[in-house]
Amino acid sequence: MSLVNSAFTSPDPEEGARVYAADRAHVFHSWSAQELIKPMVIAGGDGSYVWDYDGKRYLDFSCQLVNTNIGHQHPRVVAAIKEQADRLCTVAPQHANDMRSEAARMICERVGPSFPKVFFTNAGTEAVEHATRMARLHTGRIKLLSAYRSYHGGTTTSINLTGDPRRWANDYGSAGVTHFFGPFLYRSPFHSSTEAEESDRALEHLQSVIDFEGPDTIAAIVLETIPGTAGIMPPPPGYLAGVRALCDRYGIVFIADEVMAGFGRTGRWFAFEHFDAVPDLVAFAKGVTSGYVPLGGVIVSAPILETFATRVYPGGLTYSGHPLACAAAVATMQAMEDEKMVENAAAIGEEVLRPGLLELAARHPSIGEVRGLGVFFALELVRDRATREPIAPYGRSSPAMDELVAACKERGLLPFTNYNRLHVVPPCNVSEDEAREGLAILDEALSAADRHTVEGAA
Ligand SMILES: Cc1ncc(COP(=O)(O)O)c(C=O)c1O
Repeated sequence: MSLVNSAFTSPDPEEGARVYAADRAHVFHSWSAQELIKPMVIAGGDGSYVWDYDGKRYLDFSCQLVNTNIGHQHPRVVAAIKEQADRLCTVAPQHANDMRSEAARMICERVGPSFPKVFFTNAGTEAVEHATRMARLHTGRIKLLSAYRSYHGGTTTSINLTGDPRRWANDYGSAGVTHFFGPFLYRSPFHSSTEAEESDRALEHLQSVIDFEGPDTIAAIVLETIPGTAGIMPPPPGYLAGVRALCDRYGIVFIADEVMAGFGRTGRWFAFEHFDAVPDLVAFAKGVTSGYVPLGGVIVSAPILETFATRVYPGGLTYSGHPLACAAAVATMQAMEDEKMVENAAAIGEEVLRPGLLELAARHPSIGEVRGLGVFFALELVRDRATREPIAPYGRSSPAMDELVAACKERGLLPFTNYNRLHVVPPCNVSEDEAREGLAILDEALSAADRHTVEGAA
């Protein structure tokens, strides 16, 4: 990819050392023991690549935190942010603003006619907070159900909705959340051997959880349409339609968390379009601006909107619908549309990533399963294919995973990993050549994981 938009920063290791030292001295990082981390210093980025101060370029197969859906420094979005900064940097949420209105209109147009309005937040966790607040007020109920294998954000309600270990230290047991098992055939909690069985049994389990919690006490079921950080497990056919039916039967609000899966990543604008189920509220963030300016929100369906037609919605943010963020969203959606990036994500997924990753699985004993769609794939890495023993325990890394990450970086690829998984999550506009370059690097790097497998050690 050409470096048209931002000049490739010339190597400057001394400046890199200064930036690193200042970070270590003054920056308190998320989810970390502050003295046990060594942040990578990024000097710049363009398209599918980033580079460091030593001049080393990396193919960004992580999209940072799976949010740079149109790659780095897309010239149209950068220009739109600059133009908006020249015109009007900020405006209070109670006023109307052209970019906010246009961003909301474009989002509603893409999500479909049952969703007339958007409530803007600053990021994904606030989107989930507000979606659940709306659901509680709409139903007059308190309880929320969510899946164990999930991440919904780092603030009070969303971290309690989260199933993964990041919740543990934050959970005081007072958020009104009950967790359940979603479908995951490879590690089926229901001993299923087919997708149909897994779907049926996961729905029976959810029905039981509803029965035992008390259907009249449950405000919402919150689900990542396709769980992201928790493992990119596309739900089996029928599952989301079954969740929709349960919600309809008991008057429960169905909240789809599309913070990671939305805005093109799965080869559709929204991941729920792949399935036979339309949620009541959609939480989004990340890809809506390709992460260039923080923005999130809740897309609100007509019945829930009705609740707040003449009743005050008791929630708000100084920066709800910030003009710089909304200008970035408008330009991101326009660029995605004009450059057919959603279509590209679907094609790269089916024509390059899926066959390429399956080929890798045939060669590398560490790959237990390949799953995903669009530019949203996971490799489930195992020590033993027969027993499916993960190559790193749940909630932790392992020498195998550390060596795999190092091998990727050595070869110029920035990976996204979580516990025993490597996620393949390039931008929606990744080119075929770049996708193949990434697969070739993974092919070499995976030998590091293979050495820790039963087969590799034999
Ligand atoms: C599915 C999902 N929901 C919510 C969030 C929280 O978003 P944010 O970090 O923007 O608050 C994330 C972040 O990774 C996510 O993946």
